[in-house]
Amino acid sequence: MRQPSDSAWIAPAGGLDAPMIAGLHAETVGDGPWDEGALRHLLESGDGFARVATGRAYGESMPLGFAFARVIADEAELLGIGVLPAARGRGLGGRLLADVLATAGQRGARRIVLEVCHENAAAHRLYTAAGFTRVGTRPGYYATRDGAPADAEVLARALA
Ligand SMILES: CC(C)(COP(=O)(O)OP(=O)(O)OC[C@H]1O[C@@H](n2cnc3c(N)ncnc32)[C@H](O)[C@@H]1OP(=O)(O)O)[C@@H](O)C(=O)NCCC(=O)NCCS
Repeated sequence: MRQPSDSAWIAPAGGLDAPMIAGLHAETVGDGPWDEGALRHLLESGDGFARVATGRAYGESMPLGFAFARVIADEAELLGIGVLPAARGRGLGGRLLADVLATAGQRGARRIVLEVCHENAAAHRLYTAAGFTRVGTRPGYYATRDGAPADAEVLARALA
């Protein structure tokens, strides 16, 4: 399934795509509040938007990654981003994030924030490369797989 990310394409997704995005979210990020119902509600609310990356594999096109965010007034929040393990490290996460930043800006956001687990090295690389910096910490905000608490870092960057 490995292939260059430039053979994948990124497109807007809506409420009807909520089951697919929820499946990708569970497979990449894991358990959390973003089940199918919550995603549909977000994407049908008008405040939320999503992007899905699709690539060709085994002669078919299939979803490889997603990102979704919300814009309220002049602030956006990146609520989820994930790329299937076999498609990682080829720039797809960066392309999804760049699309979210551009879309949030077009929707009037002047700043975007997100939360990331302190221990998530891949996500930190992705966000640092995109110009995010740390603006806060939420101690013990996440639980790791073994149940131990892990800090969340709040990152932000300005949008043009
Ligand atoms: C974070 C994630 C979306 C990155 O997707 P991706 O397609 O691999 O991203 P890219 O290929 O664009 O790489 C982005 C950066 O991360 C780095 N990276 C990728 N995998 C990495 C890993 N396992 N460890 C450390 N850095 C890694 C890349 O080298 C790149 O950094 P660089 O530009 O300095 O070289 C992906 O790892 C993922 O889905 N993780 C699980 C879900 C998750 O943690 N989501 C974020 C929650 S806040």
